[in-house]
Amino acid sequence: MGLQRPLPEDTCDVTTADDDLPAASRQMTSSFLTDVLTGLSAPLKQVPPKYFYDEAGSHLFDRICELPEYYVTRTELGILQDSAADMAQALGPGVLLIEPGSGNSAKISLLLAQLQDPVGYVPVEISGEHMLASLEAVRAQFPDLEILPVCDDFTAPFTVPTSSRAPSRRVVFFPGSTLGNFPPHDAVELLRSFHEVAGPDGALLLGADLRKAPEIVLPAYDDSAGVTAAFNRNLLVRMQRELGADLDADAFRHQAVWNDAESRIEMHLVSTAAQTIRVGGQCFEFAAEEPIVTEYSYKYTRERLAGLATEAGFRVAQVWTDAREWFSVQLLTRN
Ligand code: AVI
Repeated sequence: MGLQRPLPEDTCDVTTADDDLPAASRQMTSSFLTDVLTGLSAPLKQVPPKYFYDEAGSHLFDRICELPEYYVTRTELGILQDSAADMAQALGPGVLLIEPGSGNSAKISLLLAQLQDPVGYVPVEISGEHMLASLEAVRAQFPDLEILPVCDDFTAPFTVPTSSRAPSRRVVFFPGSTLGNFPPHDAVELLRSFHEVAGPDGALLLGADLRKAPEIVLPAYDDSAGVTAAFNRNLLVRMQRELGADLDADAFRHQAVWNDAESRIEMHLVSTAAQTIRVGGQCFEFAAEEPIVTEYSYKYTRERLAGLATEAGFRVAQVWTDAREWFSVQLLTRN
């Protein structure tokens, strides 16, 4: 299961075209219904994780990033704080920085603060409103930087706007270990699309969580305050609100499972009893304890990541990690 591919054909320029947002959100709703109906019809029921991120889900995700158990964000930020200057040096002057799925301004700001004379910043985000909010902070901190937002689904091909000044190279910045939410085959496809976006002398700066003991990983996806559980169950609330689903969200519980063979966390919504739910005029039967898989979060070794990068036409040029080697920021260059 991946964050599935093509979504909106319409893109919206968030700086000017507010009128396009309803069309984009209409399309999102119909994709949501189609993906839910397809996912719930599969032998192992599933809903793609990209639907976590409505407004409530995005706020819950921001809270997850601050949880004591969720080491991911904190560790990556630490690496960026320690090594952004080194990364900037490796990237060189005059880059056009492209950030697919830009959400939170803290990481990009750490990098921008160190880059020498970047020609522009291109955030790519499906939710125009969410992007606008996080862009305000970037604009305030870098008032002279040319910002060229693209409102689009980064998992489908998107057009990179032309900056006023010609860049020395394009650099795709993809932090947060979002690559881990794609199964290996889809991860390679996504890396291939970044390879294309980066162009001939381009590069990818990738944040990737690393394989480690399940005792560390599991609590990050099943925190004691129940924020991740609320994030997971928000999918059901969203199905009720946006798709008119007839279901009882309290009849499903959050479950996080470590799948060692696949080296991934699996998030499930487990039906607490035998029940039938209705969505889009269709009925779906659940046995007691039957799960809906809502997310995979792969934790790759450095070797496995290098293999995926090679398959996509990249070469690992440099890797920065924390002292415990829990997380990595990797500079991938084109062969
Ligand atoms: C966005 N992504 C990298 C997060 C992760 O860790 O896989 C999503 C998440 N799911 C539960 N907690 C965080």
